[in-house]
Amino acid sequence: MTNREQTAASENVRDSKSLPDSARELLERITLIIASNRGPIEFQEEEDGTLSTKRGTGGVVTAVSAVSRYTDPIWVAAAMTPGDRIRHDQAGAAGETVISPDDSDFRLRFVVTDEEVYDRYYNHISNPLLWFLQHYLWDTPRSPDIDAETWTAWRDGYVTANKAFADEIIAAVDAGSGPPVVMLQDYHLYLTPGFIREQRPDITLQHFIHIPWPDPDYWRLIPTEMREAICHSMLANDIIGFQAPGHARSFMNTCQANLDGVDLDYPSGTIRYHGHVTQVRHYPISIDVDAVRETAVEEEAFRHAEHLEQFWNEHTIIRVDRAEPSKNIVRGFHAFDRFLEKHPEFLGKVNFIAFLVPSRLEVPEYVDYLDDINTIVGRINTKYANAAEQDGVAWEPINLFLGDDYHRALAAMKQYDVLMVNAVIDGMNLVAKEGALLNERNGVPILSEGAGVFQQLGEFTLNISPTDIEGTADAIYQALTMDPGERERRATDLRNSIIDQDILEWIYRQLHDLAEQDALKER
Ligand code: G6P
Repeated sequence: MTNREQTAASENVRDSKSLPDSARELLERITLIIASNRGPIEFQEEEDGTLSTKRGTGGVVTAVSAVSRYTDPIWVAAAMTPGDRIRHDQAGAAGETVISPDDSDFRLRFVVTDEEVYDRYYNHISNPLLWFLQHYLWDTPRSPDIDAETWTAWRDGYVTANKAFADEIIAAVDAGSGPPVVMLQDYHLYLTPGFIREQRPDITLQHFIHIPWPDPDYWRLIPTEMREAICHSMLANDIIGFQAPGHARSFMNTCQANLDGVDLDYPSGTIRYHGHVTQVRHYPISIDVDAVRETAVEEEAFRHAEHLEQFWNEHTIIRVDRAEPSKNIVRGFHAFDRFLEKHPEFLGKVNFIAFLVPSRLEVPEYVDYLDDINTIVGRINTKYANAAEQDGVAWEPINLFLGDDYHRALAAMKQYDVLMVNAVIDGMNLVAKEGALLNERNGVPILSEGAGVFQQLGEFTLNISPTDIEGTADAIYQALTMDPGERERRATDLRNSIIDQDILEWIYRQLHDLAEQDALKER
């Protein structure tokens, strides 16, 4: 899409706040299959043998779920829990189970692999290897060590699980009627397009990568066989989407560095490889503005707001993140400590409240990182234990809330003075967008230049380099002492730009490009 067409498409969506007719028509004609590791819902086995459901967490599920407002996609996802496996068995030969979380319907198909295979694919390759690589998280003199265990995890885990995804997707395609379109999500499924294409040249394949894509030199830290397999398979896609133009360009460079016979055209974002054309695009993801606003005024959010009141201080800084090394949580606390050292006039008057969701605890690096967080919080709270009082009791500068509670997070976002988003690097970071939309105190986000969202919101936020503790401390001071008029101006601009970038635009731009594919043009 040219820039002018992109602008026209955006205006179209903004005007109507609903998907344009052309996109709806496409959705009506095709068999749409969404494939992601984590599905829109997970099943838990209860003590009495029944199955309860829990909505899948995370940005991918939330964003892609928005499509289901317009069509009933078939969602292919990994069976991650014993309950998912039971539900898969109950679905029987049809393989499909219809679920309706909220007001949307999904036809869900689980990919069931041997538990050991799944563990290797998810806990040994997807998270510690690919996620760490793509977020530049390695301390390279020490890690990673690609040893025999890693190779087994690759060959008998990642490859096997990706093949199983391809088989299940093909089964789903065969059960549908219209021209098949598969929208693959993320780094768990890099080898799936290649396995599908080996069997089915007729399927339109689109793959969206929600996380950054590093330069070819960094990819060289993993063995040739792995990166060649990834590039080779990815070029079986018809369209590949990234969050930012820089990631798209790095992807093109990585293919050129690792494969023979690729022909790249950078201006048009086209790669020719073995007679097949792949278009490389960027579609910055956003939030579902109406859905976020509605959730934020649900009873549960108000209940949390009441409970949280006791933690608000004259000034309140918050952060909302998975407890995840790429989020740079520990440095954020160091910066807060430094700010208090430099500005003792704030002692007792400011609180830093962190809402953290523990995740991926099967991976040792995540357990260690959670320990680091607890240690630094304990250390800073101890350091200031006698520094001041708040409401007649000893002041505790950092409050840590662990656990996954979306209503609580949204309730907190309404009330911050400063939102800390200092990720080392991040594909997008939707917390910054949710916060900017909901905040009612003209709060100031402090944004890392390494977060994708910086490209969109950076002109209205205070920006920092993620490793710059001194600079982050100064940004906290600047935010807390900012002229109220300026705070208001920035907050209004932030809110308006989020409203303009609703998730519908992300969906629409992808559907627009899909509709241009030869296989999907109306005859
Ligand atoms: C984050 C990332 C997504 C990724 C997801 C996986 O939300 O932004 O790109 O797919 O994590 O999380 P999970 O909990 O399923 O490992």
